[in-house]
Amino acid sequence: MEDISLHLLDLAQNSISAGANLVEISIREDREKDHKWVQISDNGKGMDEEQVNKVYDPFYTTRTTRKVGLGIPMFKASAEASGGKLEMISQKGKGTTLLALFIDSHIDCLPLGKMEETIAALIFMNPEVDFVYTHENNCRQFLLDTRQIREVIGEVNIADPEIVNWITIYIKEGLEELYGGV
Ligand SMILES: Nc1ncnc2c1ncn2[C@@H]1O[C@H](COP(=O)(O)OP(=O)(O)O)[C@@H](O)[C@H]1O
Ligand SMILES: [Mg+2]
Repeated sequence: MEDISLHLLDLAQNSISAGANLVEISIREDREKDHKWVQISDNGKGMDEEQVNKVYDPFYTTRTTRKVGLGIPMFKASAEASGGKLEMISQKGKGTTLLALFIDSHIDCLPLGKMEETIAALIFMNPEVDFVYTHENNCRQFLLDTRQIREVIGEVNIADPEIVNWITIYIKEGLEELYGGV
């Protein structure tokens, strides 16, 4: 995987396959501590302990189309390559949380990538699912919640290209501000 945002795009697909109607993505960057926490949580069908233990095994998948499931093992490998780690908490019937630590200054740490494109693509492809995206950088915070957007747009489809375009720009500008812009 080239960057963290592409991992998240892939991992959100697991959440949606698990029947989630709410997916929360949160990034917490701490420059002083030289690390970031990347979290994805869903309210999908979850996994029991046995399934959780199997997920790190690249040959485990409940897909029927192919025999290997690599999304989570690859995310874990990316976090560990930077000197970080991946933790997973899942409860059958409740949902799943993946929490990864990335060490920024490590030469093998993946760049974050274009979060605005990942979030916009997720909303565009899954208009029936709600997404909450929070991004903290030191003391600043950016938040996007599709439930709030739906309230404002009323009957308009959230996957309408103009809305998705607006969301992309809104996130991009929000992140620029987060990183010190204005
Ligand atoms: N968020 C999730 N909720 C429920 N089950 C999950 C979730 N993420 C992963 N799984 C289970 O773990 C398996 C492996 O996931 P993954 O490593 O991404 O490979 P793949 O998506 O190709 O199957 C999935 O097939 C699914 O059974
Ligand atoms: Mg997957």
